[in-house]
Amino acid sequence: MKAIILSGGKGTRLRPLTYSGAKQLVPVANKPILFYCIENIVQAGITDVGIIISPETGQEIRETVGDGSRWGIQIKYIIQDVPGGLAHAIKTARDFLSDSSFVMYLGDNLIGTRIDRFVSEFNSTTPEALILLKEVENPKQFGVADVTKEGTVLKLIEKPDDPPSNLALVGIYIFSPKIHDAIGKIKPSKRGELEITDAIQKLIDMGCNVESFILDMWWLDTGKKDDMLTANVIVLDEWLKESIDAQVDDKSNILGRVSIGRGSVVKDSKIRGPVVIGENAVIENAFIGPYTSIGNNSKIIKSSVEHSVIMDGSELIDIERLEESLIGRNVRIFRNHKMHKALRLMIGDDSVVEV
Ligand code: DAU
Repeated sequence: MKAIILSGGKGTRLRPLTYSGAKQLVPVANKPILFYCIENIVQAGITDVGIIISPETGQEIRETVGDGSRWGIQIKYIIQDVPGGLAHAIKTARDFLSDSSFVMYLGDNLIGTRIDRFVSEFNSTTPEALILLKEVENPKQFGVADVTKEGTVLKLIEKPDDPPSNLALVGIYIFSPKIHDAIGKIKPSKRGELEITDAIQKLIDMGCNVESFILDMWWLDTGKKDDMLTANVIVLDEWLKESIDAQVDDKSNILGRVSIGRGSVVKDSKIRGPVVIGENAVIENAFIGPYTSIGNNSKIIKSSVEHSVIMDGSELIDIERLEESLIGRNVRIFRNHKMHKALRLMIGDDSVVEV
């Protein structure tokens, strides 16, 4: 079994949160979303992994992920010249996939379960496709499945105006090589893409066995929902492991599950987990409350912050209370004691400032 992770796409910039166009590299609990995908694949025992990248954002993905050796696997990069759709990405990876069965994992999907049990199920029942479904409130934004009570998939439609159910297709699929025949038979959709949803529908039309599972655990399509804070809360809640590799002075107090990276310094501060703090950060005279992720090389000084994401290299100085905030990289937020009741801001595109 091989795996491909789709990290190409339109390269729409997630400014101001990241200067790279790669939404798959946005951190959740201080780790790029893409790393969670890779780890899930590795846990399923798959060591031959291809990552689909676009010409625009591919270089940053290569540099961040590397050759796979840190996970003990081999990663090959496959350039998709145009974002022609998920089925087009499979076509692009045809040489890499050869005649192997494979997992296709969308690089912006985060899921609250390991995938190894689906891989085992696929290996024992050998369907042509195994798909995962999840009940959602907004099915129009997804591929949607019409399924019988017994779980037989009748029909799949991509982003329907009139959804037949609220069961969305999760962005993790397992295919036999038969999917290549089906892809060869489909045409681009209204949005001009070769849709994987149409290719799986084609498999059904061809009389192939398509198995489905309805997930009862959480699933986030982070590319879509702009709910980074929700993802941060869930991941800190469920996956954060306690590990303190920092200098913490006697006047500081740490409670709950907290992870602090190497080279960081905590002085005269209170930290209440779940909290993750990266490497070489300085926390001084501060309160760090639950559900907060603070990136590498950041400084939180004479400030209080909770329920927030603060990315690498950012500083918070003399800020009384910051809550439910998303702060990008290399941002400085500080109080100017000379300026009373006035705000002086330099904020990037698409920002939201609540004062
Ligand atoms: O997340 C689940 C949904 O993903 C499914 O419910 C839909 O059926 C499926 O079509 C897909 O919909 P999206 O509109 O969310 O797909 P998106 O364009 O965001 O692409 C998903 C990932 O695949 C993203 O990491 C970018 C990458 N991608 C996308 C395209 C179109 C590629 O690598 N190449 C591509 O050509």
